[in-house]
Amino acid sequence: MNILIVACGDTGVTLKVAAKLKQLLVGASVDIVDGKDKLNLSGYDEYVLGSNIHFGKFNKRFYKALKVLRKSGKSPYVYISGAEIEKKESYEKSMTKEAPEAKCVRFVWGELHSDAVRGFKKFAIESFFKGRKDDGLPIPKLLDKEIKALARQIIESK
Ligand SMILES: Cc1cc2nc3c(=O)[nH]c(=O)nc-3n(C[C@H](O)[C@H](O)[C@H](O)COP(=O)(O)O)c2cc1C
Repeated sequence: MNILIVACGDTGVTLKVAAKLKQLLVGASVDIVDGKDKLNLSGYDEYVLGSNIHFGKFNKRFYKALKVLRKSGKSPYVYISGAEIEKKESYEKSMTKEAPEAKCVRFVWGELHSDAVRGFKKFAIESFFKGRKDDGLPIPKLLDKEIKALARQIIESK
C-alpha cells in the first residue's frame, strides 16, 4: 500500500505527527510532504492530510491539498494538530464540516515551540503558553494514542 501524508503546519509539529504515523504504518510505503511544497498526488492508495490551527482556523494549505484531492475523487484521513485539547470535539466537528468526505478526523493535540519561529508568531506562542499556564490548562503534548488509532484505521482499510 502506498500512502501519502501531506503535513500542513508552521513550526514542525504537524510534520512530526506525520513522521510518527509513518513509523506506525509498518509494511506500507509512506511518503511525507510538507504542504508548503508542490504537491504530486498521483500514484497513492491512501492519503492523509494534517493541519495545524491558528486562531481557530485550519491551515490554508490544508484546504489547497483537499481541493486537489477532491478533483480526483479521493477521500483523505485527516488529523488536526492544535494546542487546545479542551476543544478537541469542537475542532473535530468543524473539520468534519470542512471535509465531510474524510475517512476519519482525529485531533492529536500538539506542541508549542516558540524557538522555531520569530517575531509575531514567537510572541503569539509564548503568550498562548503563558495564558494556558495562568488558566491552569494542560500544556500541549502529542496524543500518541490518537496517532496509533489513526494508523490502525489506515492499516485496517486494506
Ligand atoms: C499564532 C498561533 C495561533 C494558534 N492558535 C491556535 C488555536 O486557535 N487553537 C489551537 O488549538 N492551537 C493554536 N495554536 C497552536 C498550534 O496549532 C499548535 O502548536 C500546533 O501543534 C502547531 O503545529 P505546527 O508546528 O505544525 O504549526 C496556535 C499557534 C500559533 C503559533
